Amino acid sequence: MSVLVTGGAGYIGSHVAHALLDRGDAVAVLDNLSTGNRAYVGEDAVFVEGDIADAALVKQVVARHGVESVLHFAGSIVVPDSVADPLGYYENNVVRTRALIQALVEAEVKQFIFSSTATVYAADAPQPLAEAEVKAPISPYARSKLMTEWMLEDVSRAHDFRHMVLRYFNVAGADPAGRTGQSSPKATHLIKRAAQVALGRVPHLDIFGTDYPTADGTGVRDYIHVTDLAAAHLLALDALRAGAPSATYNCGYGRGLSVRDVVSGVERVIGRRLPVLESARRPGDPPTLISDPRRIKAELGWMPVHDDLDGIIRSAIAWERRFNSA
Ligand code: UD1
Repeated sequence: MSVLVTGGAGYIGSHVAHALLDRGDAVAVLDNLSTGNRAYVGEDAVFVEGDIADAALVKQVVARHGVESVLHFAGSIVVPDSVADPLGYYENNVVRTRALIQALVEAEVKQFIFSSTATVYAADAPQPLAEAEVKAPISPYARSKLMTEWMLEDVSRAHDFRHMVLRYFNVAGADPAGRTGQSSPKATHLIKRAAQVALGRVPHLDIFGTDYPTADGTGVRDYIHVTDLAAAHLLALDALRAGAPSATYNCGYGRGLSVRDVVSGVERVIGRRLPVLESARRPGDPPTLISDPRRIKAELGWMPVHDDLDGIIRSAIAWERRFNSA
């Protein structure tokens, strides 16, 4: 019996794969290495390079490794890229995921965990956001995620199939053991970019938008340490294995930090000013995203232990140093 992790060579998938291996689960990783890196997959995992839409390959991996559950991370994640290339995002995130799900249903895999996003909620929904809040995604990226959520709901109604949707808020930081981290060369995440600036690898940090309706005018997000997010996946998997019904959970701490809060945090950690440039808003960015984490805490018993901005920043900088010197 094993767990298939699609996108397991990527940022979040590799952390979850390590967490599964650390507790003794058997793991197979399927990744096309378009943005992931083979080196970040734990040595004890089976690694298969390939496409999630390759039904024959997916069925072969399921049969060969006795896959009973799938954690699906493979996909495109950059909001502004999705605005520029909507068809590419629908292809990668919806069409190929549909093919994956079909292959799994045919192979009688019954448990599925899906990486969704906090950006599915309406921009004017009250914060913090509860799972039942109105959905009205504004970017093609977020729409592609909500479409997949709907697909999963329908599949779970029609087939012997249960799923968990985890809606991520802003994932940041790196594995405390230094085995993996955010390694995309074109990464756009705020904390990743700030770490690159802190190390002098990028000349300045852009602050995208200073006229948002927030306390200091910059975007507010709920930054969650990737290790706490990985723990949420293990709990969701355990719940599915124990027979829990399909469910959706927000993954965030329940507190908002502005871009300027993050800049101050980096300055505290490095002990000097960070060069910043105030720029225009980035297309597709909502002003505020803060999680209401009560459901995941109550139902899955999630107890985050890394809710500390400075710690998140320190781990991101440590990874950035290691990643670039490798
Ligand atoms: C991120 C994720 C997205 C996820 C969402 C959930 C990535 C690439 N995107 O999007 O998949 O669904 O969280 O909330 O992981 N900012 C700057 N300067 C920068 C970079 C960002 O000011 O150089 C600002 C942005 O305008 C935004 C905030 O920082 O207000 C966070 O941006 P970012 O880290 O890119 O994440 P999201 O766009 O929120």
